[in-house]
Amino acid sequence: MPALPPVVHLDPTSLATQLADDVRAGLGASPKRLAPKYLYDARGSELFDEITRQPEYYPTDAERALLAAHADEAADASGARTLVELGSGTSEKTRLLLDALTRGGTLERFVPFDVDPAVLADAAAALATELPDLEVAPVVGDFERHLRLLPRHPARLVAFLGSTLGNLEPPARAALLADLAATTGPGDSLLLGVDLVKDVDRLLAAYDDAAGVTAAFELNVLTVLDRELGGDADPDAFTYRARWDAERERVDMLLVSTVDQVVRFAALDLEVHFAAGEELRVESSAKFRRPGLEAELAAAGLVVQRWWTDGDYALALAGPA
Ligand code: SAH
Ligand code: AVI
Repeated sequence: MPALPPVVHLDPTSLATQLADDVRAGLGASPKRLAPKYLYDARGSELFDEITRQPEYYPTDAERALLAAHADEAADASGARTLVELGSGTSEKTRLLLDALTRGGTLERFVPFDVDPAVLADAAAALATELPDLEVAPVVGDFERHLRLLPRHPARLVAFLGSTLGNLEPPARAALLADLAATTGPGDSLLLGVDLVKDVDRLLAAYDDAAGVTAAFELNVLTVLDRELGGDADPDAFTYRARWDAERERVDMLLVSTVDQVVRFAALDLEVHFAAGEELRVESSAKFRRPGLEAELAAAGLVVQRWWTDGDYALALAGPA
């Protein structure tokens, strides 16, 4: 059957309004920062997909291998009838989970959930063709705001893959996990993919690939700001830098102004001054350790039931405590 029309919790107007508020706050702050969800316009989603194919970017291959080895066990343990995927993107690796749940004979429905309607529509259409017996019910939404609106089907497995949890700051992670726990009943479970703390050189290479795809992905947010807010930011007047923050155990992704400049946003009647060398943090990617993640889950009332790892990356199956 064809994919259902998307349920839209986040329309382009409300996303633009939120962007306007975030730009005023984040570019007015010191140091300057912006939330990573704005990286994913249609071009940003394409560039992220390209990142996953760069030789330095190990997380995608690591997670795919763990799913290939353990999806059947995760499917059996969850017995899920509905698979929800947060930040689903292309849902490329998720096919391993969908296949395992199909083999297990329990799966009825797949709910991919993403902020980017373009990547979601493509993935939903492709999956509906590949798995014609499955109901594919996409949702356009912000997982920081709309999780409590997710359909409450019984026996639900929520997959949050790719270590996207690590792109949120700790308070936002706590809020997201609490929202998830609030809608998680006794027969529901959560499959979380997380990247682990490791050698700093490998981490920095993964976030600053030699082909410059990550740099293009991060710089693309300036094009988003220009388009949505009538801005005149020139991507050529910024460079890209990745830096390890040892205290917070995260990689920071920074745009660095190469000159002293003023960027104007006509739609906001706003001028933003950048000194030469000044940084704008457009994304962070936290790296995890098992005890820390277990503590974050426990604070939300969730407990790890299975833990699969290759030492670099981990998949955690969790449920209500
Ligand atoms: N899960 C895929 C994609 C990871 S990229 C993988 O493992 O490869 C992160 C995805 O999360 C993108 O598709 C992006 O559009 C989505 N995303 C980012 N912030 C979001 C938010 N606040 N709400 C919903 N989706 C979000
Ligand atoms: C989606 N997310 C988990 C990616 C990461 O690894 O933090 C985003 C990314 N940004 C640059 N490279 C990858």
